[in-house]
Amino acid sequence: MGFFVKTNISESSSFDNFLQQWQVGSNDLIITNEYVLKPKLGEKSLPCDVLYQEIYGKGEPDDEMVDAMLKAVADKEAQGGKTYARIIAIGGGTVIDICKLFVFGGGLNCEEIFQKGATLPRKRQLLIVPTTCGTGSEVTSISIVAFKKKNTKMGLATSSLFPDEAVLIGDMLTTLPYEVFATSSIDALIHAVESYVSPKATVFTQTIGESAMTRILEGYQELVSKGWAKSKTLPKNLQSFLIASTMAGISFGNAGVGAVHALSYPIGAIYHVPHGKANYLVFEEVFTAYRRQNANFTALEGVLGKILGSSRSEVWRTLFELLSNVLSRQPLHELGIDEKKCLEMAESVIQGQQRLLVNNPVPLSQETIAGIYKSCM
Ligand SMILES: NC(=O)c1ccc[n+]([C@@H]2O[C@H](COP(=O)([O-])OP(=O)(O)OC[C@H]3O[C@@H](n4cnc5c(N)ncnc54)[C@H](O)[C@@H]3O)[C@@H](O)[C@H]2O)c1
Ligand SMILES: [Fe+2]
Repeated sequence: MGFFVKTNISESSSFDNFLQQWQVGSNDLIITNEYVLKPKLGEKSLPCDVLYQEIYGKGEPDDEMVDAMLKAVADKEAQGGKTYARIIAIGGGTVIDICKLFVFGGGLNCEEIFQKGATLPRKRQLLIVPTTCGTGSEVTSISIVAFKKKNTKMGLATSSLFPDEAVLIGDMLTTLPYEVFATSSIDALIHAVESYVSPKATVFTQTIGESAMTRILEGYQELVSKGWAKSKTLPKNLQSFLIASTMAGISFGNAGVGAVHALSYPIGAIYHVPHGKANYLVFEEVFTAYRRQNANFTALEGVLGKILGSSRSEVWRTLFELLSNVLSRQPLHELGIDEKKCLEMAESVIQGQQRLLVNNPVPLSQETIAGIYKSCM
């Protein structure tokens, strides 16, 4: 199995430097959130057009939000008598995943893009500035959208969705609410862990995944030991978390993620739980289920034990204790999930998420998945 990084990755020290370095101009369209952009822009004006995602819907991407934004961009192009050559996404996974769908140009709605994605020609350049430290979407070929009628999230994975450029600017993360920092970085940790035990893992994905785990977990140890987690203060080394999430993105972009993500999608889509938090709700129980089925985690436990300074037998307890100090975990019943819903969600995972379930280190049956949900209640 090959290993690839199709996106050019660079770092920049500030938003101003980024605008200069990348010669942002009139044929570019920045898609972002006003509250992410304004603190960095101040009184200055932008040399290009801008579209604010939050105007078109709340929360993570859904098909209606994407359709409204596709129309807004088409209207802007018609008004300005131009076609944007480059889309610049400045935001978290929500903004990035929406922007990926703009590479095909106009004329199609979200459902059509998902149906035809692999066959569509690419018409625009895509430059990404991530402003959370989670998804790694800046280096993956996946866009994830909730389809309202299907009650779950679907992923479109096709090579046209690889961004051309990812520019990492830690300073863009200083306005992150603590909760978003915590859920997005846990998402990145889960990308690194799930891809590490995927059957598609290679020495390359595992090496880069190990680096991502080290940066995130050592960052969490500092966050907890200095009392920042308790006072919900962001860590000082945001650039390191940002690098870690891009590394984890490279790792899972090659080796995939599995059941944690598969089980989190119905929770995210039905109960509007942020992606990283939905993953966190099921992370421990999915790995407990794998271990009950004798998955071989010797290598992963060695890596985690080295980072956490713990023996192999204690490594899982130490890991989840550390995570609980970074972010407290809500039981599923508090979201309104009951036993019947657990059975329905398990069925939807088996039917709709085989793309992810093939990456499990050991197979999980529908009954086991229902049991995992129930044990998270
Ligand atoms: N394509 C992929 O490879 C991939 C991988 C994992 C997750 N995802 C998707 O990514 C989405 C989640 O992304 P996320 O965790 O980055 O969260 P997000 O993009 O939804 O952001 C969470 C909230 O934080 C705000 N925010 C983001 N950056 C900010 C900043 N610097 N300052 C202040 N506020 C800021 C956002 O506006 C939003 O309200 C989900 O839809 C998930 O399915 C995609
Ligand atoms: Fe994720």
